[in-house]
Amino acid sequence: MKAALVLLIIIAVSVAAVAVVGAGNQGAENIKIYGGSKGNILFPHHAHQDQLQDCNTCHSVFPQEADSIKKLKDSDQLKKKQVMNKQCIKCHRDEKKAGNPSGPTTCSKCHVKG
Ligand code: HEC
Ligand code: HEC
Ligand code: HEC
Repeated sequence: MKAALVLLIIIAVSVAAVAVVGAGNQGAENIKIYGGSKGNILFPHHAHQDQLQDCNTCHSVFPQEADSIKKLKDSDQLKKKQVMNKQCIKCHRDEKKAGNPSGPTTCSKCHVKG
């Protein structure tokens, strides 16, 4: 009896662990991105995940790690402003043109001093 109970508990714990791993690491809800002399960017990460569904829309260019954009720029694997121009602003502009909900395209709406 006791052995069966212990086994049940082990199974329950493993199932729970798999469920957590399966959900993946979504990262922080909001992320402060390094923005150089213009000031950092407060990026609503989960709002974009909900809106866009596909992680690779952005993460095909930089990995799912904190400060990955800055690290790639520091090692010359990404150009400065490449993510900003080719991803952020490009998508916001395209969505606005299509008449859909979109994000900011002016400097100070993304770059907040400090
Ligand atoms: C609209 C673009 C975009 C989409 C879509 C996106 N991310 Fe991110 N993600 C970012 C940015 C920007 C960063 C921060 C990179 C940096 O700090 O240099 C980031 C960082 C992360 C990090 C590491 C930082 C942290 O908070 O731990 C994880 C993990 C992550 N993303 C997971 C995901 C997953 C999972 C999905 C899909 C469900 C996803 N992301 C979709 C843009 C995006
Ligand atoms: C949609 C949000 C957004 C808008 C609008 C925006 N930026 Fe950015 N900017 C970013 C992000 C994200 C980064 C960091 C990633 C990168 O360098 O591509 C960045 C990086 C930068 C950098 C730092 C590059 C470095 O590594 O030193 C400068 C300078 C900059 N932007 C200037 C501007 C100017 C000037 C404008 C207006 C004409 C502007 N940005 C508009 C999001 C934005
Ligand atoms: C593929 C499309 C796409 C990409 C890439 C994208 N965004 Fe957005 N963004 C959106 C849409 C759509 C909205 C509007 C969501 C809404 O209103 O529900 C938005 C909204 C925003 C907002 C405003 C949120 C608010 O609460 O008003 C900010 C800030 C923003 N994006 C920053 C960024 C930055 C910084 C990046 C690049 C790291 C980025 N976005 C990349 C589609 C995108």
